[in-house]
Amino acid sequence: MDIILIGAPGAGKGTQATLLSQALAIRHISSGDLFRKAFDDKAELALQTQKYIDLGELVPDALTVSMVLSCIEEPQSTRGVLLDGYPRTLPQVQALDTALQVNGREIDLAIYLPVPQGILLKRLDGRLFCHAHQHIYHARFKPPKVSGICDLDGSQLYQRADDKGEPLRRRLLIFFTETPQLLDHYRAQKKLREIDGNQSIELVQKAILHQINEYSREKNTDIKEITL
Ligand code: AP5
Ligand code: MG
Repeated sequence: MDIILIGAPGAGKGTQATLLSQALAIRHISSGDLFRKAFDDKAELALQTQKYIDLGELVPDALTVSMVLSCIEEPQSTRGVLLDGYPRTLPQVQALDTALQVNGREIDLAIYLPVPQGILLKRLDGRLFCHAHQHIYHARFKPPKVSGICDLDGSQLYQRADDKGEPLRRRLLIFFTETPQLLDHYRAQKKLREIDGNQSIELVQKAILHQINEYSREKNTDIKEITL
């Protein structure tokens, strides 16, 4: 199954994708995490992309598309992918559709998590990431057991530089400007499912799984009913 998660900065895409990729046994691909990994690895890609991310701007399609599609073509993606933060523009949608079609696949569901802006700001204000694997925490809503340390791998937690000030303002503005066309695209294809993202992490996850189970039943896929 190939699924897209759409949501504003702080909507919970990464949080939900991590949980769902375990439940569904499909690969989680986050475009933002791939860019941040390139910085940590001091990869060539970082030289071309860091300036956009630091400013909260979208990275040009040419760079983003090739990075994500090469992940989709890897063997770990053959069971399906859970895309978090990609696609964000219509050219990205088209490139994705074409790449999946080559393998006889198509996007099954596009799940949109709307969250009020005031809540997004509270979530981003306290968000923490781990250095080793970008596990996600929140100072109040999902605190680590030991302050400043990742529960899962023991690495140090940090705050993203683009989670405040002008870069954050740009990210929110770009999201609310670019996304209606994306939603229209998937709505027209009857693939869009809207799930209230302003609920607890567990309730959002249950609601997403419910939609996936319903879809599997409708399409008679070989995916068994998934429960928490
Ligand atoms: P990216 O890393 O994708 O950032 P984003 O889209 O702005 O989304 P976030 O990661 O900020 O939010 P999230 O929805 O994952 O929330 P999370 O689960 O962490 O992109 C970064 C940059 O990369 C972009 O600005 C751009 O420059 C570039 N880029 C990436 N993709 C691109 C593309 N396709 N094209 C061009 N450029 C691209 O949750 C947030 C916090 O809330 C956490 O602390 C979490 O613990 C907490 N939380 C989550 N859910 C809940 C809940 N239900 N209740 C309470 N707290 C919750
Ligand atoms: Mg994220």
